[in-house]
Amino acid sequence: MLLLPLLLKATLLRLASGSYHPFYNGFYYNHIMNDNDDGQDKVDYFNGARLVVETSRDPVYSYNGANVTLPCHYRYEPDLGPKRKIRIKWSKLRDDFTKEQDVLVAIGKTYMAFGDFKGRAHIHQASRHEASLVITDVRLKDDGKYRCEVIDGLEDENDVVDLRLKGIVFPYQPPRGQYRLNFHEAEHVCQDQGAILANFNQLFQAWSEGLDWCNAGWLADGTVQYPIRLPRKPCGGVHLAPGIRSYGPRHRHLHRFDAFCFSSALKGEVFYLDRPAGMTLEEAKQSCQDAGAEIARVGQLYSAWKFLRLDRCSAGWLADGSVRYPIVTPRANCGPAEPGVRSFGFPSKGRFGVFCYRER
Ligand SMILES: *[C@@H]1O[C@H](CO)[C@@H](O)[C@H](O)[C@H]1NC(C)=O
Repeated sequence: MLLLPLLLKATLLRLASGSYHPFYNGFYYNHIMNDNDDGQDKVDYFNGARLVVETSRDPVYSYNGANVTLPCHYRYEPDLGPKRKIRIKWSKLRDDFTKEQDVLVAIGKTYMAFGDFKGRAHIHQASRHEASLVITDVRLKDDGKYRCEVIDGLEDENDVVDLRLKGIVFPYQPPRGQYRLNFHEAEHVCQDQGAILANFNQLFQAWSEGLDWCNAGWLADGTVQYPIRLPRKPCGGVHLAPGIRSYGPRHRHLHRFDAFCFSSALKGEVFYLDRPAGMTLEEAKQSCQDAGAEIARVGQLYSAWKFLRLDRCSAGWLADGSVRYPIVTPRANCGPAEPGVRSFGFPSKGRFGVFCYRER
């Protein structure tokens, strides 16, 4: 009675730790690529039937704290009947495509989730040939590509689906000024702002929505890039088309740049507090606490501006010691003609209001 679960567990573990060999598993069998133009489905023929695995071609969008289902279905052509014992393996591709991260493996109703996905991932099987993955309480770093792999005996087929988080990219410079962060420090400053280092997709999306920033910043894959809408001399020259300028991969310890951080929708709210005479940073932190909240981080202010349309033409302290304010509807005496989060930098003195964050 005890043996079966143990055996299953051992098999699941073996499945998980094995590196991914899509086309060679120690046996030879006839492998025929299908001739669809899109080249997405990879199929093998066995017993005269072929196994086909399909996910969604369109990216699946979600946000911080939500539950999401990554669809995956398989089928046999022709159908081999209802009872086949298959294994399902979900893994997450890394930004740099080096190693995959195990997410979950399943045989029948038994499954195991791994690492950060423990307790947050399970298989959704509403229909007979479904192998969809459910991730609960989605986190910023869940953004990326996932491989759904179905194994039936020697047959091993897969397809890849893209999970994208709705969010906002913002450039970050620490108080000490421009180009002070190596890769690891860039990771940390984004985390301190309630965000993570952006990936290329996210920066590209931000650029297509209008982000123009003439300082190079780290991305999650260890490359350094910057988004330019309006070509100009100090930003790659006037003859280069608008786009993402790239310095390529840089040395993660030695080279120093700014950071591009990514923050998603908020679980809570951001609000503004002030006193007639303004506040120091310390007083500002205290008044947020008195209101049952905490001083907002930069990523939370950007998220509130983008997703909750927070508009406030008064400068307020944030947790990192910077002073900023969010403008959705540009108007006189509230900064430039475009919407955005305005920054006064990191004032060493002065009295301001404060932006607080409270979880719902
Ligand atoms: C996500 O799913 C869990 C468990 O199924 C549930 O408790 C929670 O309320 C869901 N969260 C959202 C945001 O729907």
